[in-house]
Amino acid sequence: MNIKWEELGFEFMPTRSNIRFTYENGKWSEGKLFNTYDITMSVASNCLHYGQAVFEGMKAFKGKDGKVRIFRPDENARRLISSCEHLLMATFPEEKFIEAVKTVLLDNLDYIPPYGTGGSIYIRPVMFGTTPQIGISSSLKYELVIMVVPAGPYYKGGIKPVNAMISDYDRAAPLGTGTIKCAGNYAASLYPTKIAKNAGCAVGLFLDPKTHEYIDEFGTSNFFAITKDNKYVTPESPSILPSITNKSLMTIAADLGLTVERRPIHVSELADFAEVGACGTAVVITPVGKIFYGDKVFEYPSEIGPVSKKLYETITGIQYGEIEDKHNWTLEL
Ligand code: PLP
Ligand code: COI
Repeated sequence: MNIKWEELGFEFMPTRSNIRFTYENGKWSEGKLFNTYDITMSVASNCLHYGQAVFEGMKAFKGKDGKVRIFRPDENARRLISSCEHLLMATFPEEKFIEAVKTVLLDNLDYIPPYGTGGSIYIRPVMFGTTPQIGISSSLKYELVIMVVPAGPYYKGGIKPVNAMISDYDRAAPLGTGTIKCAGNYAASLYPTKIAKNAGCAVGLFLDPKTHEYIDEFGTSNFFAITKDNKYVTPESPSILPSITNKSLMTIAADLGLTVERRPIHVSELADFAEVGACGTAVVITPVGKIFYGDKVFEYPSEIGPVSKKLYETITGIQYGEIEDKHNWTLEL
């Protein structure tokens, strides 16, 4: 094993093991560690044709004290349950989920980036229906696999601002699957993201699919902005993913004395913000430098703004065990 920890980005890399569970005859199996990433299933599996596939993303961090902290895995366990319920899939119990995350991390301890390298280990649970079927109905059989991947910054350059583009396309329908973490949402975002990338932007920003007047979220993350009078504002919308990072940042912002507003954000407000950022497990806080929208360009600081920086330092400080975890968010391995 020869990992260049400082050079890690967000790329798949095999590790020692992943843990797998099978749901069959109405119950989940015990977890089993596998040393392969291959899986055998029918080509008629539901997940391939009818999209019963959901996933999660969370991280664990090695601290200066040598301890490994998992950030809010209970929240991911519950969001996985809500994704499964929305797609009529079997649900996986919260406690069993957390035990499984611990088991797979313990088997892959040497893949957790050392403290000080800026890296963390990304934990990716994925669940999919494997019943062979041709008629549309929910699967009777499911696999849950939890894999782990050492990770660095999602966007090259770490916390350097990225540009974003609003295209004419939607990732989710008004009362569709935007609030859950299903694979199809990401397939739907590929084309608009390609349009953004062709225009030199790292990320696509989506408007609400009903009126195209309000900000929804990025393809990879939630949207937040800091107003000139120091408020943390973030969209309230029935078509965005409830981000655990954003939920945490709202609490941190309030702790830091900022007013927090979760409300519909009209696209015209983009002209007035002091700072704009993307937030999520993979992107952490990534500042946004410019947003392109039709023939308009909205510009923000070319370096991370002071409030975003403070939020970034606070959340990562808690994750690496450097700042007191007063809300009990981290779970020690
Ligand atoms: N929005 C989308 C579309 C995402 O893919 C993610 C990543 O998980 C987020 C928001 C951020 O959610 P979280 O902070 O829970 O990772
Ligand atoms: C995450 O942040 O966990 C995600 O799933 C987002 C994805 C772009 C990697």
